[in-house]
Amino acid sequence: MADAVGNKAVKDFHLDVPAPDQGFFVKGLGNTDWGLKNRLSRIFSPKSGRTVMLAFDHGYFMGSTAGLERIDVSIAPLADHADVLMGTRGAIRSCIPPTADRAICLRATHDNSVLFDDLSQGSGFALDMEDAIRMNASALAIQCFIGAKGERDSLEALCRAVDQGNRYGIPIMGVTAVGKEMARTTKYFLLATRILAEQGASIIKTYFCEDFEKVVAACPVPIVIAGGKKLPEDEALTMAYQAVQSGACGVDMGRNIFQSEYPIEMCEAVRKVVHEGFNDKEAFEFFQEATKAGK
Ligand code: 5RP
Repeated sequence: MADAVGNKAVKDFHLDVPAPDQGFFVKGLGNTDWGLKNRLSRIFSPKSGRTVMLAFDHGYFMGSTAGLERIDVSIAPLADHADVLMGTRGAIRSCIPPTADRAICLRATHDNSVLFDDLSQGSGFALDMEDAIRMNASALAIQCFIGAKGERDSLEALCRAVDQGNRYGIPIMGVTAVGKEMARTTKYFLLATRILAEQGASIIKTYFCEDFEKVVAACPVPIVIAGGKKLPEDEALTMAYQAVQSGACGVDMGRNIFQSEYPIEMCEAVRKVVHEGFNDKEAFEFFQEATKAGK
């Protein structure tokens, strides 16, 4: 193993050099199979190259949380407004109509529940690939706890999911968890995103941070940002805008959409930023107009 101590500090991200064009519109994934590319094309719009994923997987460790008490009531009506629905197989099967013509990203790990002080102790692969295929999944999400007790188990789950995903042409989204032991610094996200990509994840979900363009540059596959705790709508749109400006290929946002008083309008405003080149101010104006019109 390479010596990790006393190495020359990382500094050149070649921000002016674009990632190599591999003849496919999704970064770093030109050398994959047709089926995997076809699924990626359901996740990322071939027109904008980006995606709006709607995350409602929180119940897998929190149970019902604000806005997710009734997924059939709060999330099902949002389905048409997102590109991808990200949830557990239990929530999707029971609460989302199979007629929803949206890509599915299945949360495929189980972790400690909120009853434990530390959520980051371990993680396991939560489903069989056959069931993911039965659910017509376009991707699976595997959460990894880099720098915490659960690092080894969660990386093991990621590697097994990548093996099975490659066998069946299903991309794996590696999710960089945040928790007690993991600092939300640029240095941390640079490390965690890169480790997950090196282990074969095709998409990385992470949190927006300072110098995000460096995190994007050093990650050979597309990055989408998590929303995190609910912010005022204008601030959430600014975060999405800055992430996209820094090279993110979209968002996988939950609470900042479904906890909004106007979730459909918020989802549409996020789409304006991600797909239509609106800046944050324009998107917030759109949101305000849309909420007025809806009243
Ligand atoms: C944690 C997760 C979440 O369960 C969820 O998807 C996060 O969504 P948001 O922070 O936007 O509510 O992936 O790592």
